[in-house]
Amino acid sequence: MKIKVLFLIAFIFIAFTSCTKDTKMPNYVPNVPYVPPTDFGFAKDVYPLFASHSCPGCHGTSGGLTLSGTASVVRTNLITVGAVIPNNSSGSKLYSNFNGTSHKNISLTSTELKNIKYWIDSGAKDN
Ligand code: HEC
Repeated sequence: MKIKVLFLIAFIFIAFTSCTKDTKMPNYVPNVPYVPPTDFGFAKDVYPLFASHSCPGCHGTSGGLTLSGTASVVRTNLITVGAVIPNNSSGSKLYSNFNGTSHKNISLTSTELKNIKYWIDSGAKDN
C-alpha cells in the first residue's frame, strides 16, 4: 500500500515538473530562411497590407503620405515622399518604421515585413 502511494506521489511529481518545464520552454521559432512568394509582386504581396492594417485611415488624401489608391499610385507616393528608397530598405521609413518597433501601435507580421524588405531591396518595382 505504502509503495503504491509512493509511486503515485512520484508520478504526480514527475507529471507536474515535466509540465512546468514544458510551459517554461521559450517558443521555438525555427530559423527558416526567407523565401519570397512565387511570382512576387508589389500589388500582390505588399500593397494589400496597407488596407488590411487600415493605413489609409491616417494616410488618406489630406496631405503627407497617401496610402490609398491603386497599387501603382501608392508605390509612386511612397517613393515621391522618400518613404521608400529603392534598393535601400534600412534607409526606407516604410521598412524602418516597423522593423523592431511599431508605428502607431501597428505591428506588421514578420512575413509582411520581410516582403516589404525584399520588395525595396529588389528595386521597389511597380509589379
Ligand atoms: C494613427 C494614425 C496612423 C496610422 C494608422 C498609420 N500611420 Fe503612418 N504616420 C502617421 C503619422 C502622424 C506620420 C508622420 C507624418 C507623416 O509623415 O505623414 C506617419 C508617417 C509614416 C511614414 C513616413 C512618411 C514619410 O513622410 O517619410 C510611413 C512610411 C508610414 N507612416 C507608413 C504607415 C503604414 C504602412 C501604415 C499602416 C501599416 C501606417 N503608416 C499607419 C500616422 C499613422
